[in-house]
Formats: sequence, structure tokens, C-alpha cells
Amino acid sequence: MGALTPILANALIEVAREVDQLFDHVLAVPDDARAPLYLAMRHAAIGGGKRMRPLLTVAASQLFNVDRAAAVRVGCAIEAIHVYSLIHDDLPCMDDDDMRRGKPTVHKAFDEAIAVLAGDSLHEIAFELIVDGATHADPFVRLELIEGLARASGPAGMAGGQMMDIAAETSDFDLAAVTRCQALKTGALIAFSVEAGAILGRLPPEGRASLRGYARDIGLAFQIADDLLDHEGDEEAAGKALRKDEGKGKATFLSLLGVERARAQAQMLVDQAIGHLASFGAEADLLRAIARYAVERDR
Ligand code: IPE
Ligand code: IPE
Ligand code: MG
Ligand code: MG
Ligand code: MG
Repeated sequence: MGALTPILANALIEVAREVDQLFDHVLAVPDDARAPLYLAMRHAAIGGGKRMRPLLTVAASQLFNVDRAAAVRVGCAIEAIHVYSLIHDDLPCMDDDDMRRGKPTVHKAFDEAIAVLAGDSLHEIAFELIVDGATHADPFVRLELIEGLARASGPAGMAGGQMMDIAAETSDFDLAAVTRCQALKTGALIAFSVEAGAILGRLPPEGRASLRGYARDIGLAFQIADDLLDHEGDEEAAGKALRKDEGKGKATFLSLLGVERARAQAQMLVDQAIGHLASFGAEADLLRAIARYAVERDR
């Protein structure tokens, strides 16, 4: 993959290792009847995925000299929410998928009831991770993180976007409606991944405009890339079934704009995202590399 600069390749490997390590710790399997629930969470959460969201939190935290372990904890909490959303997204009642991250989905490897409970439990583990004093000494910082993650995950964020995504299969969504759906479904959690770095770094909200612009633009670009991958990607590389959106008649950037304009739009958003970082120096190079990766990735 030509898109991976050395700083990005190293950062992806390092963050993946740290996230796996923390999940391994918090998901230690108990010696009782809950063992299958923990094994299912481990199956979904450990050893897979790009870890884009934790990487964004770590990269944004670097701008403000935030303690790395704290950034990894919060990134891991966001990843826990993301993994929960994937487990539920793959259920027969939603996208009905058999493969995720190159492995059988949780309801295939275990069963549907365990998949529902594994998703529920990862959702709660996310908040347990943040609320712990190890995340930040100041409880007000932890409270701000909790509020932001809750908002980004619920009906005003990811879950609300998933609702709109279902509606996109049967209603006539125009570009504004698709943009709003994607901004909630995918954008909210990506935006919070960046915002979390600013919260940990105690940057006041009025100083966050450029970072928020960056996050909004890469969130949309990231979902356009997901739609493009669905259309023309390689299933082996993606680790999941592709070519599902068209079959469902779902309104996406691709169905509304066509491949060429969707790709151009994603590239424009990446350039705009990088433009938002103009006031930062080399300390934002990782964020710049992530923005390019968001659309040049093959998985
Ligand atoms: C897939 O997310 C679902 C979307 C929100 C587009 P990712 O592309 O980040 O999936 P993983 O975490 O790498 O598996
Ligand atoms: C899912 O979007 C986004 C979530 C919030 C889980 P998709 O349904 O397009 O994600 P994939 O393609 O299955 O990864
Ligand atoms: Mg879906
Ligand atoms: Mg899906
Ligand atoms: Mg998709």
C-alpha cells in the first residue's frame, strides 16, 4: 500500500499493540459461566481492525503533550464502542454479515444472544475505562470525556446514524440527508476521537475550531472511502463482505454522485482537513498522514 508513510505505519503498529494489550488486560476471562461472553468480546476486540480511532486520539493528544497511556486508555474506550457497533451492525437483524476483520462475526463464532451481550458489555467497558482515575486526575476532565463519548455513541451520534442508514434503504435521501446520516453514523465517533485529545490536553472549547473542522472532514472522507471500498474493494484485504450497499438500494455518496465524483469529493475533504491544521507544525504530521490514509486505504 503506497499510502503508508513510515511515521504512519509505525504509529498504526504501535497503537494496535497498546490497544490489544489493554483489551487483553480488561477482558481477562473469568472462571465461571460468563466465560463465553468474555471470549466473544476478545474475539471481536483483540487482534484486528485498523485502530483508526485510538490512533486519532493519540495523534491529537500529541499536540498537547498529553500522557500517552492516558490517550491510549481513552482511544481504547472509543474503540470498545466502535467494536460494539460493529458486532451489532453485523447481526442478522441489521447487515447480516458473516465476516469481520478477516474472522467470522461474533454471532457466527458464538451465537446471537452472546453477540448482543458482547456488544452491550463493550459499551459499558468503554465508560469504565474512562471513569477510572488512571485516565485523568481531574474528575471534570473525565466527566467531559464521558459526556462527549455518550453523545457521539447514542441517538445524536452513531446509533442515530445507524437508524438513518436503515432508512436510507427505503427512502429518497438527497445529498444533505446522506451527509447527515454519515456524519452521525461514522463521523461522530471519529470527531470525538480527535476531540478527546483536546479534552485531555485541557484545550478550552473555543480553541478547538480547527481540530473540529479537521475531524469533521476526515470523518466524511472516511465513510466515502468505506462506500468506495464496498463498491470496488477487495474482500480479502477488507476482511469483510463487500458489494452489499447496491444490492440493498441504499442511498450513499456513491449512488448519488457516482464513483468519480465521490472519489473527488473524498480527496477534496482530505485537502480541506489538512488545511485546518495550518496553524500547527510538525507535531501535526501524524494527523496529516491519517487524513490521507482515511481515503487511500484498501481496508
Ligand atoms: C468500519 O469501520 C465501519 C465504519 C464506520 C465505516 P473501520 O473501517 O474503522 O473498521 P475497522 O475498525 O478497521 O475494522
Ligand atoms: C457501519 O457502517 C457503521 C457502524 C456504525 C457500525 P457499515 O455497515 O457500512 O460498515 P461495514 O461496511 O459493515 O463495516
Ligand atoms: Mg451497516
Ligand atoms: Mg455493515
Ligand atoms: Mg460499509
